[in-house]
Amino acid sequence: MVRAIPDPSAFARDFRLDPSVVYLNHGSFGACPVPVQEAQRRHRDRVEADAVRFYVDDLWPLMDRSRDALAPVVGCDARDLVFVHNATTGVATVLHNLELRAGDEILVTNNEYTACMNNCRAVAARAGATVVAADLPWPMPGPDAAFDAVMARVTDRTRVAMISLVTSATGIRLPAERIIAALGERGIETILDAAHGPGCVPMDLDAWSPAWATGNCHKWLCSPKGAAFLFVRRDRQDGFRPLVLSNDAERLDAATARTRRPHFHHEFDYAGTDDMSPYLTVADAAAYLSGVMDGGIEAVMAANHALCVQGRDIVCDALGVQPPAPESMLGPMATLTLPAGAPDAETLKARLYDEWRIQIPVWGTPGGTTSIRLSAQIYNSVAQYEYLGEALRAELG
Ligand SMILES: Cc1ncc(COP(=O)(O)O)c(C=O)c1O
Repeated sequence: MVRAIPDPSAFARDFRLDPSVVYLNHGSFGACPVPVQEAQRRHRDRVEADAVRFYVDDLWPLMDRSRDALAPVVGCDARDLVFVHNATTGVATVLHNLELRAGDEILVTNNEYTACMNNCRAVAARAGATVVAADLPWPMPGPDAAFDAVMARVTDRTRVAMISLVTSATGIRLPAERIIAALGERGIETILDAAHGPGCVPMDLDAWSPAWATGNCHKWLCSPKGAAFLFVRRDRQDGFRPLVLSNDAERLDAATARTRRPHFHHEFDYAGTDDMSPYLTVADAAAYLSGVMDGGIEAVMAANHALCVQGRDIVCDALGVQPPAPESMLGPMATLTLPAGAPDAETLKARLYDEWRIQIPVWGTPGGTTSIRLSAQIYNSVAQYEYLGEALRAELG
């Protein structure tokens, strides 16, 4: 049967999304707008025109341009930012810089991203440390419940915490700033995993003051894939090293005298020959998103949040289920647990994609239930969530 696919919003003209697919999963892999892709092409052309000039001279000010554009989005001084290829690398870099001892505990939640957890467990195992997971409730009653769940697992062996700003599977904006402050009072530093951070929810790293934070630009800021930031608080920058050491690692003073950059920037900005265009295009992505509607990136985040809540409510009404989390804890993603009797995750995901052409993540959740997570980005429309509601109602019988 040929179905009428609902139209996306007018902003879809700026993207190259497949028109035969209803794309409701910006949260896993964000689409990059055409003007931003064109900016990346120009950066790449510049490299190929004179690669020596690019890597020796031009790279440094262009990295600063992106850093300067990103700093206000995440609320910190550009001096405290470097780029890495993705949030997984950001988390791994911090973990490898920790000096853990046997018996130490790394505090996480049961909602942390799998790749980050894998790195956490590997680093902990090498040091004889353990990873302790706080159980976040689901359904999520409110920020206090999340805060209390994390703080209940603090012990006198807790050395460091790794906490998501917005959780991956449940799409919940955690009270990270409260957690960072309360842990800080007990002498425990936090790694803030803001993979869903820039362009997703408002951020103020200077005020929150985690020791380390990382987050993707290639999700909600719509940069090309392969661009994430790593923030290191000023008092933690001394001796903080990238995972890969490059030419200047043993003569940083001399090298930075030439590039006139802090050691922190110099080491991360060039860690071997690489495609730097995703980093350089972060400035262009921020410019695109700032200009796409009145009110800039703040307005985009507010519009995506409002569309997400509207979409969630449409689907909840269609299925007769209650929203599992308060609206105030959502950004542009919402997870819903489907009523008992829903098909298993794999079957439902395949049906939604093959039969209805809806791209949306579906997960098995504890208790044998099935959950879906919807995303809202500027190219999405209300009609797409109505269509999702119709599809789910049909598939759930
Ligand atoms: C909370 C969280 N952390 C880390 C990541 C990893 O991001 P990346 O694959 O870009 O490294 C994700 C990806 O979705 C995520 O949701």
